[in-house]
Amino acid sequence: MARIIGGVATSHVPAIGAALDNGKAGEPYWQPVFAGYEASKRWIAEQKPDVVILVYNDHASAFSLELIPTFAIGGADTFAPADEGWGRRPVPVVKGHPELAWHLAERLILDEFDMTIVNRMDVDHGLTVPLSLMFGQPAEWPCKVIPLAVNVVQYPPPTGNRCFRLGQALRRAVEAYPEDLKVVVFGTGGMSHQLQGPRAGLINREFDTAFLDRLVSDPEAQAAVPHLEYVREAGSEGIELVMWLIMRGALDAKVVERHRFYHVPASNTAVGHLILENA
Ligand code: DHB
Ligand code: FE
Repeated sequence: MARIIGGVATSHVPAIGAALDNGKAGEPYWQPVFAGYEASKRWIAEQKPDVVILVYNDHASAFSLELIPTFAIGGADTFAPADEGWGRRPVPVVKGHPELAWHLAERLILDEFDMTIVNRMDVDHGLTVPLSLMFGQPAEWPCKVIPLAVNVVQYPPPTGNRCFRLGQALRRAVEAYPEDLKVVVFGTGGMSHQLQGPRAGLINREFDTAFLDRLVSDPEAQAAVPHLEYVREAGSEGIELVMWLIMRGALDAKVVERHRFYHVPASNTAVGHLILENA
C-alpha cells in the first residue's frame, strides 16, 4: 500500500523563489533563510518520496474571485509554473500523479470531503517555492507532485478543525491505494504575516512559536483555534497556517520533530519550517 512517511511544513514566500531564480541565494539577507533548509534537503534526498502531496493556496493565479474552491485536488499529468506578473518561474514543470490523485479524490469525496477536481491548472509560488526550498534547482523535480489547493484568500476559509480532519481522511485515502508508494505531505504558507493595511509587516514570534509547539504535540488543540485568533495574532495572511493542519492530520498522533527552523524576516514575513516523522 501507499504510505505517508513524513510531513514538511514551510512558508512559501515568493521573494524566496525570486532570490533563487535571480542568483541571490548567497547574499547576506537570503543566506540564513536557505541555510535553514540544508538539513531538510538532505532529509528528503534520503527519504526519496515517490509522491509529494503539496497543500498550498493559490494566490489569484489559477483561480480568481470568479471561482473559489475551498479544497481542490489536481488530477492532471502536468502543472506549469504560473505567470504571476514577472513571467513564469524558471523551474521545472510539475509532474502530477493522476492515478493516485483520482483515487484520493474518490476516497475523499466518498469520505464526505467534497473536493473540487482540477484537470488543468498553473501553480504559483505557493507550490513552487516549497519545492525549490526542499529540492533546490534540479533540471526535473525528483518526484511526482499532487497539488491540493485550499482557499485561504477569500473569506470564509475552512476551519482549522476541518483542515485537520481532511488530513486524517487524506491519510486513510493514501493507505487505501494498493501500490507501494512513499508519500510526503507538505503543508505550506504562514507564518505570521500581513501584507496590507495599517498592520502590514506584522510579525508575532510568540504566536508562531506556540503554533509550532502545539502543531507538533497537541494538534487537536491547535485545530480548535478559530480564524479570528489567527488573524488577530498572526495577521491577515497568517490564516494560511490552517493548511499546516492538513499535513499534521495526515500523520500519527505522536510525531518526531526532525527539524525546526524559524527566521525573521523574509519579505514581510516570518519563515517557519518543520520536518515531522511518524513516531
Ligand atoms: C508574500 C506572499 C505570500 O503568499 C506569502 O505566503 C508570504 C509572503 C509576499 O508577497 O511577501
Ligand atoms: Fe501565501
